[in-house]
Order: sequence, then C-alpha cells, then structure tokens
Amino acid sequence: MCGIVGYVGPKLATPLLIEGLKRLEYRGYDSAGVAIMNGSGVETVKESGKITRLESLLSATPVVGTTGIAHTRWATHGQPNQVNAHPHVSQDGTIAVVHNGIIENSMVLKQMLEGRGYTFQSDTDTEVLAHLTQEFFEGNLEEAVIQALRMVEGTYGIAVISATDSHKIVAARKGSPLLVGLGDQEYFVASDVSAILAHTRQVVYLDDGDLAVLDRDGYRIIDLDATELQKKVSRVDWDLDQIERGGFPHFMLKEIFEQPDTIENTMRGRLLPDDGTSRLGGLNLTDDELLSFDNIVITACGTSWHSALIGENLIEELTRVPVEVEYASEFRYRNPIVNERTLCIVISQSGETADTLAAMREAKRRGARTLGIVNVVGSTIARESDGGIYLHAGPEIGVASTKAFTSQVTALLLFTLKLGRLRDMSILRGREIIDAMKAIPGQVRDILSRADEIEALAEEFKRASNFLYLGRGYNFPAALEGALKLKEISYIHAEGYPAAEMKHGPIALIDEMMPVVFIAPHDSVFDKITSNVQEVKARKGRVIAITSRDEPALKGKIDYEFRIPETLDLLGSILASVPLQLLAYYIAVKRGANVDQPRNLAKSVTVE
Ligand code: M6R
Repeated sequence: MCGIVGYVGPKLATPLLIEGLKRLEYRGYDSAGVAIMNGSGVETVKESGKITRLESLLSATPVVGTTGIAHTRWATHGQPNQVNAHPHVSQDGTIAVVHNGIIENSMVLKQMLEGRGYTFQSDTDTEVLAHLTQEFFEGNLEEAVIQALRMVEGTYGIAVISATDSHKIVAARKGSPLLVGLGDQEYFVASDVSAILAHTRQVVYLDDGDLAVLDRDGYRIIDLDATELQKKVSRVDWDLDQIERGGFPHFMLKEIFEQPDTIENTMRGRLLPDDGTSRLGGLNLTDDELLSFDNIVITACGTSWHSALIGENLIEELTRVPVEVEYASEFRYRNPIVNERTLCIVISQSGETADTLAAMREAKRRGARTLGIVNVVGSTIARESDGGIYLHAGPEIGVASTKAFTSQVTALLLFTLKLGRLRDMSILRGREIIDAMKAIPGQVRDILSRADEIEALAEEFKRASNFLYLGRGYNFPAALEGALKLKEISYIHAEGYPAAEMKHGPIALIDEMMPVVFIAPHDSVFDKITSNVQEVKARKGRVIAITSRDEPALKGKIDYEFRIPETLDLLGSILASVPLQLLAYYIAVKRGANVDQPRNLAKSVTVE
C-alpha cells in the first residue's frame, strides 16, 4: 500500500529518501512527502501526484539535513492531495509522522484533541498521531510515541521524528510491515526492503507491538512497555539489479520475461525424480503429520486466489484430499469448517496482504496448521505461518502479478507431488509430472520468443471495451487470471468464465464487438471446448484461441490463434497464462496506460 522510508546517519537524508521513495512507488503512488531535521526544526515538503513532482520541488528548494522520514501514499482517508499527503506535523510543528495502515478510532481521538485545542489541517486519520505524540511529549520521543500508540486502535507502521529529541527516528509496527536497515553508522527504517537495498542487506524485521529507536549511534528495539527486545538480524539475498528494470521498458515486461528462470528457481533443488516426489524442507511437517489432515483450505486474494483454484484441482486430482478455496476477505466473516485436522495453505506474493494475513490468523485460532506459499522472504505471513514454501521468484515490482503466479502454481505442484506420493500416487505418475515440470522453463522461453505475435494481436484489439476469457478444467483459473491482468492494467472490462458456463448468461453479451479468448490447448477437455467456440462464432464473436496444435475441429471457427507447447493438463495453466500476460501488457501499453502503476491499485494491499 503506502511506503515508508527513513534515514539517520552522516549523509544528506533527502537524496536517500527520494531514492527510497522511488523504489517504493510501486506500492502506492498518489502523493508523497518528506520531513527532514534541517538544523533548526522539522521541515516538511509534500506534493500530490508522482514522486517526480516532489523531487522537482525539492531540487528547486533543497531541504538539508541528515535525519528524515518520507512517505508515498495510497489514499484511504481523504483525497489524494497535497494537504493529505504525509508526513503530518503536530500542532506546534515539532513532530512529524508518516503512517501506513488505518487508525480506526481516529474520529474519537480527533474530537478529544479538538477539545484540548488542537486543530486539524487534513482529512487523514494519521494527523491524530502527530498531535497525540505532541500531547504526550516531555522530552523523550519514544516515550511520547508509546503513550500515543496506547490510545490508538487499528493498524500502523509509523516513523516519527521530533525537533526537540532530534537525530532520532522512532518507528513502530502493528499490522503494517516495517523493518530496520543496519548500515555502517547509519540506520534506515522502511516498509519494504527494496527501499534500502542499495545501502544495506542487514535488516531487522519488526513484529507487531515492536518499536524501533534509531539514532546515529545505533538502534534499539523495545515493546510498548519500553522493555528492550533482542531481535534477529536477517540478511536479504535479493540483488539490486532484481529491483531495477534492466533495459526493459516496464517491470511487468521484465518479470514476464524472467519466468523461465523464476519457475526454475521455484523448482531448484526440490525435485526428486527417482522417487517421483519433491523435497520441501520448509513445510515443518513430518510425513505422518502431512498424512493426518482431513481437509485442506487454501486462502488468498487476487492472482494468488487464482493459483489457489489451480491448487485445488491439483491436490484433489492427485491426492484425493478434499480442498476448499476461500477468498481471504470472506473467510473470517463466515464460519468455515476449519479445525486441528485442517491444513490451511495461505498464498501471497507479498506475504503482507491484510486480508490473507487475517484469514491465516483466524485459521490458526481455530487450530489449523498453516503453510505459507510466499515470495517475500521475512514477510509477515512467512514468519507467522507454521511452515511453507518460498517461491524464490525474486522481487516482483510490477503491480500486476505475473512471475509470482507461475511460481505459485509450480510451488503448489511441488506440494501436491509430495502429498500425492505419500498417499497413493504412483512413482510413475510422479516421474511423468516431474519430466513435464522440467520442460516448462524451456516451453515458456519458446512462448516468449514469439511475443511479437501477441503484440500484433494487441494492436488488433487495443480499442475493445470488453473481453471474455474462457477455459475449462485447469484453464478456467487461467481464464480468470487473464481477465484480471487485462482489466487491472488496461482498464478494459474483462470477465473470465468456465467455457461451458458462458451459455448460462454471458452469451447474451456476444456480438461482433466482443473478443473472446479461448484457452483451448489439446488437453482432455479440448473436444468439449470446441462446441463452446462454435457457440461464440455463431453469434459473430471474435475468437482468439490459445491452441497447441493444428486443430481441424477449429477450422473456420477462430479468427486469431496463438500456439503454446503441449504439456500435461495439470501444467497447462502455466503455459496458457504467459501469452495472456503479454496480451494484457501490450494492449495496456498501446492504450497509453501506466502498466507498472495502474490507477487506484497498490502492489500490496495492507488494509482490509
Ligand atoms: O501479495 P499477494 O499475493 O497477497 O496479493 C494479492 C493480490 O492483491 C494481488 O494478487 C493482486 O490481485 C494483483 N494486483 C494481481 O495482479
């Protein structure tokens, strides 16, 4: 969602903060600001719009100092304008706060503060934190922040500076990710490691209830009783070039093209071809424990929810264990059948999605064992789950998830192989699947080498206002994912459906203006899908088919075709999703959309 970065050390803070904000811009991007200790007090500069606008302001009027905090915002309370941008400053101008999350009792606190003479400039919930901290300040910033936070209900990741207790940053976390970066006589705070990766790889991840106090001489982590805590220092193994575009015009395209490697990385060292199974050290489950579950619940949001649907098919087909897939946002508001005999698999690229995290905590509360399928190492879901599978796909910066999706499906396959072989899946079936998995990176490479064919298709359809994506079996979730990719970056309305379900309603939409993407490789449901193609063609729909061979049954019924290599049914969605990612990408670019930072979206949705 929003991004936070802070710096204390010997260097000029402003350029470091702007650099950090730019790396965080993918998380939220409607306004941005900095607050710097300028030698005489706290100086704040903020601006609506992209960070480049803030940067121009700061180059016209530089703010000089070696301690500062900065923020890039994705509005929750109030318009995305200059006044509502963070940092927010206390009434007396001495304290500045940046905040991710939502202060749920902000209205009550605001009334209380107004009664004590405070006036509010913005429509944000965050401003109460600045005034509250002033209210409690008696010379020590962390003590004041602790008192303020005791009054707050809701979620926060905050960084605070004070002109009186200067050259110090106090940061705190409850529900919104935050970490401390340890440099050489310099310290950082950030909501995301990419903000500080150019300067340090040594980080301390804060847990809920932790406060960090950073100054030039070091850092301390304390709790809300000011008791000092000992926290592990972790090393981040992401490289800087992984968070840069590396010659590609957009992160999304770079990440689409990384997939042969990222899928390989998810599998690396985990396949055991001789036994037709996988090795997954992070599950933290013995074979007996893995066999003891009555059912599996998979919970996730967005793209990760689509990979969960594929996981459901995989696990039920190969292990016969019943699986339910739940939208994380719905999960805890109903009464799901989850208990100590349930394995709850939680899928999240970021490992920070608020709904998914809450669903995982609810499953734990009900006694379930939890496994996280997560990309970001050290993220909250990774740390709070009982075990899991890291994707090892490297940082995904493009807001539209691409490489994480194909790695999630790969991770689910690895899990299914393991469980399947413990149950009654034959070694031969296991080996057959492993052989097919090993071929996938090369097959994705083949698809990518023909990206220009998809670009031409995009030219043809860039003016469409609606799209339907249809698939059956494993390709139904791929259809959902293709439609999500298109709508989120090109703003074209798109729907994914099980192909045969189309005739129960969506068929009414079909006319010569409606492009319909059929995912129709030569798999076990191919014959069934040909009749659905026929139904669309009969109503003059424009058919784009993702096929895998010359199909006499489709002759004269399709308008455009893109070939993908053949694989097992259960791997087909990985291959089918790649041309759909490219189609969405090229259409969005041709429509002039900002592919990496689509409107209204944020990479990681850390509010409910
Ligand atoms: O980080 P997560 O996988 O938990 O994120 C879940 C969704 O917010 C995410 O997949 C979202 O739908 C993407 N914008 C899809 O491209």
